[in-house]
Amino acid sequence: MIAGSRRRWALIVHGGAKPMEPGEEQPNREGILAALAAGRAVLEKGGTAIDACEAAIRTLEDLPIFNAGTGSALNAAGGIEMCAGLMDGRDRQVGSVAAIRNVAHPVSVAKRLLPEKEIVLVGDGAALFAREHGFEYVPDAALRTEKMVLEHEHDTVGAVALDQSGNFAAGTSTGGLSGSRVGRIGDSPLPGSGLYADNEVGAVSFSGDGESIARLVLASQVMATIAKDGPEESIRKAVRQLPPLGGDGGGIAIDRRGNIGWHHNSPAFVVAFASSDAPEPKAYLSKEEERRV
Ligand code: GLY
Repeated sequence: MIAGSRRRWALIVHGGAKPMEPGEEQPNREGILAALAAGRAVLEKGGTAIDACEAAIRTLEDLPIFNAGTGSALNAAGGIEMCAGLMDGRDRQVGSVAAIRNVAHPVSVAKRLLPEKEIVLVGDGAALFAREHGFEYVPDAALRTEKMVLEHEHDTVGAVALDQSGNFAAGTSTGGLSGSRVGRIGDSPLPGSGLYADNEVGAVSFSGDGESIARLVLASQVMATIAKDGPEESIRKAVRQLPPLGGDGGGIAIDRRGNIGWHHNSPAFVVAFASSDAPEPKAYLSKEEERRV
């Protein structure tokens, strides 16, 4: 644990690196603040960073404006396959599900996998695990929204938390890319690519073009540089490698000292954050907006 860190907490959540359509600003802002409030309530009560990430991400999975859970993107067959991951900085345990179907909260299935030996379950195996552990079957029709039938944007949601015991966690959840091949997975369930958490270093979560993020193992890059560069600069250096490979993205991180940072090169990246040191919630739709206010 960080010296003198007891009773400090920090949380940052994001709703995706994505273009934002006119009129979507307000629901994005309200949604991301609701997710922050859900996670923060856990941390203020002394709960774990893992529980805080799960609470924040579940909130986003329930809101159709975000591409995760309800409101997930449709793949080439018109179906919904989702990915989610959680990583616990205490023991670097990982729980991830990939191309899972027919669950409302993929992040909670990922959390249930944390104590198990396996770190990633895919497709039918992930769905079977969910059923065996009491997660209700939810038909695609209940997860599909008009927005995702009409639009072809994509994004991921995520959360990074430091709890009062000095433990870090990172989480992701996504409906993936619109129109992608059946069975396609991106960075979100992959430790080292879409997320990472280690109590000795901090934690990070990415959103954006999943193939490029995975090829660059961006989360592991941030873990290697965050102590020297700080969270914001570390993510800035990471995402600027994306355009040459194709695509863009954004990331959120907290370093070992509890400093929060975020950056993106996508058109928008909705984030909200707060900490015990700066408890007033802050929410922005982009870095540019943060600079303006
Ligand atoms: N970053 C989410 C995905 O590419 O699936």
